[in-house]
Amino acid sequence: MKLINDIDSQYKYLDDKSILVTGGTGSFGRHFVMNALKRAKPRRLIILSRDEFKHYEMQQIFRPEEHACLRFFIGDVRDFNRLNMAMREVDIVIHAAAMKHVPAAEHNPFECLHTNVNGAENVVRAALENRVSRVLALSTDKACNPINLYGASKLASDKIFVAANNLSGSIGTRFAALRYGNVIGSRGSVIPFFRKLIAEGATSLPLTDPRMTRFWIKLQQGVDFAVAALSQSRGGEIFVPRIPSMRMTDLARVMAPHLPTHVVGIRPGEKLHEVMVNEDDARQTIELEDAYVIEPAFSWWQRSSYTNDGAQYAPDTFYYSSETNTDWVTDEQMRAFLQDLP
Ligand SMILES: NC(=O)c1ccc[n+]([C@@H]2O[C@H](COP(=O)([O-])OP(=O)(O)OC[C@H]3O[C@@H](n4cnc5c(N)ncnc54)[C@H](OP(=O)(O)O)[C@@H]3O)[C@@H](O)[C@H]2O)c1
Repeated sequence: MKLINDIDSQYKYLDDKSILVTGGTGSFGRHFVMNALKRAKPRRLIILSRDEFKHYEMQQIFRPEEHACLRFFIGDVRDFNRLNMAMREVDIVIHAAAMKHVPAAEHNPFECLHTNVNGAENVVRAALENRVSRVLALSTDKACNPINLYGASKLASDKIFVAANNLSGSIGTRFAALRYGNVIGSRGSVIPFFRKLIAEGATSLPLTDPRMTRFWIKLQQGVDFAVAALSQSRGGEIFVPRIPSMRMTDLARVMAPHLPTHVVGIRPGEKLHEVMVNEDDARQTIELEDAYVIEPAFSWWQRSSYTNDGAQYAPDTFYYSSETNTDWVTDEQMRAFLQDLP
């Protein structure tokens, strides 16, 4: 059994739906909107975020005159009343708005919690008030065994969305989360950073630690997994795509074979390796062919839900980490990924 089983028909789940994307002007949001416009026929597609300039820029690419379903909505997930207004007659919410930079969250903990935790609560409350049908919150590998505030705040957010299914009662809203690793080439990530250094004529590339590994996912895969998770969610799952790992030293070598590297030391709040499913989650983890599903520990969860469709539980000792992953990005794949990036 796969999470993505027939992606074209899974996109059809968006047909005739009114969809709100919080953080819709970000990397994920833009790519989701592009796909939703191409591959489905949403009734309304509402993009919510704070900065009017990002809205303006996005409107140059996705012109409301050409796409009658598009609505651009300035708003902050910290503001319940505004979210409540944005969610009127909405069927599906994808919650992508977040403060996601580890150092920024370490230095500005109140701000991180307001957006990532209070924002999550506001999304849940507004979704229940407006009888939204399905909500998918984007999460991160950093939420598993977190050591930095960004990860801890996203773990709190995951807990809020899973527990929200306890509140939906006869309204029936299904809340779920999608947890994945570094999106290749996303804003502020290592690839644009290395590219800039190489273009500026750097004589060596900085590495925090030569042992460091990360999970890697393409933005397109992230969007496809989000659509598949939305279409299949029973409510309460944390979906974890099976994705490859890569060593940071290999990335530096592939991006600049002519340059040496130098070690600058691990940054505050950074891990050597990321984890997506820990030993304690393992008990509740179902293995699909292309993803893991961490089931909620609550008694209302129908434990046979996925196993009825032929999926198996992971072994008790299961641990899904970027270090012990059995799937690794090859140099050829990384070169191809890099070529695809704008
Ligand atoms: N990129 C990755 O490598 C990665 C990996 C795993 C998980 N994720 C998760 O995926 C989600 C989307 O990430 P992304 O890469 O698309 O991030 P992004 O490019 O930084 O976009 C974030 C979006 O959220 C909006 N936003 C921030 N604070 C907001 C607030 N208080 N209210 C409303 N909107 C707000 C931003 O616009 P304004 O600033 O204009 O409001 C922006 O549109 C996040 O939840 C992130 O944690 C990302």
